Amino acid sequence: MTADSSWIKKVVVVGAGQMGSGIAQVFAQAGYEVILSDITEELANKGKERISKGLDRIVKKGKITEEQKNEILSRIHPTVDLENNAKDADLLIEAIIEKMEAKKDLFKKVDKILPERAILASNTSSLSITEMASVTSRPEKFLGAHFFNPPPVMKLIEFIKGYQTSQETLDIMLDLGKRLGKTPVVAVEAPGFIVNRLLMPFLNEAYFALQEGIASVEEIDTAVKLGLNHPMGPFELSDFIGLDTILYIAEYLFNEFGEDKYRPCPLLRKMVRAGKLGRKTGEGFYKYN
Ligand code: CAA
Repeated sequence: MTADSSWIKKVVVVGAGQMGSGIAQVFAQAGYEVILSDITEELANKGKERISKGLDRIVKKGKITEEQKNEILSRIHPTVDLENNAKDADLLIEAIIEKMEAKKDLFKKVDKILPERAILASNTSSLSITEMASVTSRPEKFLGAHFFNPPPVMKLIEFIKGYQTSQETLDIMLDLGKRLGKTPVVAVEAPGFIVNRLLMPFLNEAYFALQEGIASVEEIDTAVKLGLNHPMGPFELSDFIGLDTILYIAEYLFNEFGEDKYRPCPLLRKMVRAGKLGRKTGEGFYKYN
């Protein structure tokens, strides 16, 4: 039976970067009150500005009115002060840096602030949910909620069941996922979950193919877009995600599984060392203005 999530009204998103602000937008568009927090006021406010720009685009397309945009924005409250703003929240989603220690420090802190009923979730793209949950007093109310970039557009949410996540928590979140207009899937905890477990070897193989001189960046991207009907080829997608993020996840899979098939391609390492991280640095496999 589906558990009801209608009691979830106030959501805290920690981390106002690309993913965090996108997730905050998804909740605000679905009518939730959202606390958007980061380590400085400036970063939290920047997150809200990013959302505002994204909404401007869909106002221009005629999908929402200026008034609806303002209503959505009025539900998003940027802050650094979790002590005072998160104490009556029903759900918290973490979208900070992909470092286990930073995430554990955060969850230790917020576990003491949020009420007992609240569910805690991490948007990690591959790290252990069980390990994060272990520092809280509520591992049964802890799970992975992995959104995809850009969150307002991508339909999928991967919900990850940690060792102690309860079925009730999962059912509540499945209901919530549908209220957000998303299609949720569930995976038990394993490195990379579902999507990144499949995506990383695929992207990595594209780098090896390029390194071996099989075809150019453009040709490989065209082949994948037209031959597989993907919206972006592997190099376009890599630049979009960020090569540093990809290397981080690829290394994690390689270390966790210890199998050669997950070994990150040397070309990827070289490009990360050269600072060619994709769109965010102006150059990756392609150049951006
Ligand atoms: N808020 C709400 N809606 C938005 C929006 C926003 N901020 N920005 C765009 N949209 C809507 C647009 O209105 C548009 O809707 P319609 O098609 O109904 O008009 C739609 O989203 C597409 O937007 P655009 O027309 O601007 O862009 P596009 O057609 O060029 O598509 C893209 C851009 C969605 C990014 C597409 O190229 C794509 O799907 N790429 C692949 C993305 C992908 O694979 N992401 C997953 C990355 S992996 C990951 O995230 C996991 C990880 O852990 C690494």
